[in-house]
Amino acid sequence: MSAGRTAAPGAGRWVFHDGDFMPAADVRLSPSLQALQYGTGVFEGIRSYAADSGDAHLYRAHDHFTRMIGSARLLRIAIDHSAAELVEIAAELLRRNGHTGDAYLRPLAYKMALEPGVPFGVRLQGVSSALTIVSLPMGSYTSKDGISCGISSWRRIPDSSLPARAKITGAYANNALATDEATAAGYDDAIFLNQAGHVAEASTANVFLVRAGRVATPAQDSDILEGITRDSVISLLRRQTGIEVERRTVLRSELHTADEIFLTGTGCEIVPVTALDGRPVGSGVPGPITRTVMAAYDRSVRGRDPHDDQGWLTPVHSTPVLL
Ligand SMILES: Cc1ncc(COP(=O)(O)O)c(C=O)c1O
Repeated sequence: MSAGRTAAPGAGRWVFHDGDFMPAADVRLSPSLQALQYGTGVFEGIRSYAADSGDAHLYRAHDHFTRMIGSARLLRIAIDHSAAELVEIAAELLRRNGHTGDAYLRPLAYKMALEPGVPFGVRLQGVSSALTIVSLPMGSYTSKDGISCGISSWRRIPDSSLPARAKITGAYANNALATDEATAAGYDDAIFLNQAGHVAEASTANVFLVRAGRVATPAQDSDILEGITRDSVISLLRRQTGIEVERRTVLRSELHTADEIFLTGTGCEIVPVTALDGRPVGSGVPGPITRTVMAAYDRSVRGRDPHDDQGWLTPVHSTPVLL
């Protein structure tokens, strides 16, 4: 998604790498890195937000690390930390980098090198693993006024080939092909159909649509990443408006006849889609349900929902100090 990207001036000086905090400049990785050669890595994107209290807090970090541990299990990547420990490491990294405003963390767990005696080739067993986490300052980067999307001619990789529910680095070549096609055609982002021709997801976001007051999003068996923002939106809509989101097969024609479409993702947050395939979505401006979701999500990430605490926020400065 390219619209209005403004705020990513550079990663912090410190990284967490191979079990320790170190300056990023000291990280040495081999060109023979297995993950580089074969795409055998898994990653997450996690945000932290400046809160009114003056402290920053991580948003749903435990859920992100739990998802990463699951993705890693699929590729036999060993992660030597629990999700709770990884949350503490993430908070410590933000502190070391002085990222007290809105920031972004990118944990990456990956296959590193063949163990002694293991023959050359693509494989998962007999290959060592590593974990690196970087953080960088990052504010909102997508247009809150709406973006344009095109339905991609590239189909989402099916679960039977490379599961979208695991954030596998190599699988993102599929996403890159779609965004490349979309931006070359003048759109801001692509929406994938799956092999069955049903709506899957956007390049790095889940898709929601509103038709006649009902809200739907593709079900978990639609070859999607089970987005944590998607889950937050489903939960916020239920608790704050009583709207129950339908998780089901979504047809392409439903998008073309929708009153509203919006995308959800940790990076892009909540983004209205106001044009699809060169046609306006609904009245061509963000609709009322989209605006409700944007406001609810903003309150949630900033900790302004005191009566709505789901345990989603981890204060950066009051988590244990790791040495
Ligand atoms: C393909 C894809 N779908 C959906 C999402 C949204 O997931 P989440 O809300 O967990 O960030 C992402 C974001 O990383 C993504 O890459």
